[in-house]
Amino acid sequence: MLILIDDGNLEGIKEVYSKMPCDGVTTNPSILKRQNKNPIEVLKSIREYLPPQAQLHAQVISLKAEDMVREAQHMRSILGDDLYIKVPVTSEGIRAMKLLNDLNINITGTAIYTAMQGFIAGKAGAKYVAPYINRLDNMGADGVQVAKDIHDMLKTSNLETEVVAASFKNSQQVYNLCKYGIGAATVAGDVLMGLIKHDATTNAVDVFTNDFYSLVGENKTMLDV
Ligand code: E4P
Repeated sequence: MLILIDDGNLEGIKEVYSKMPCDGVTTNPSILKRQNKNPIEVLKSIREYLPPQAQLHAQVISLKAEDMVREAQHMRSILGDDLYIKVPVTSEGIRAMKLLNDLNINITGTAIYTAMQGFIAGKAGAKYVAPYINRLDNMGADGVQVAKDIHDMLKTSNLETEVVAASFKNSQQVYNLCKYGIGAATVAGDVLMGLIKHDATTNAVDVFTNDFYSLVGENKTMLDV
């Protein structure tokens, strides 16, 4: 499963990248709003920081298909041809996906709340489709199940589209999808760090450290013996 960071804050992205194995960054207009800077400049600085093979996903704002295509081409001209253009699964969005697919532009179908929206976006040429796990849970639906259903439907129809599950609030949601073989998850830094946090691990390390110190002396490591 690819792990993407769902963030637009370069310092935050750098911190997570230095601590976790990551495959890229996703943003949306609300994330960019939180940076309170020129959004293209924010995206440029993220692209410049990321390793060349890392993915960057950024969303178009236009509401009409032809405008989305123009906007996507403009964004690619600045941010590179490997940019993933996030397109919401409205009816104009699906129309835009077909046009973008004909132009060989990487598409991420986004704002997905039902399995069929995800499937249709895959049929329209999206490389990734992003169901909103936590937002679905908050609506009384089962976000993890929707993502699994989309994954299964894409595989059953031999589509190459992968699910990039989005909108997480806890590690359990990520764990359930990772176990299932979902293609990618985009996760905010705090939830990502929660994936490796465990009190038992911290306690085990404390015991190991103290045992070693009592053997060879306080603050000693293998370098000192
Ligand atoms: C990704 O495509 C979404 O924009 C994002 O994960 C939504 O997350 P939120 O529900 O925390 O806003």
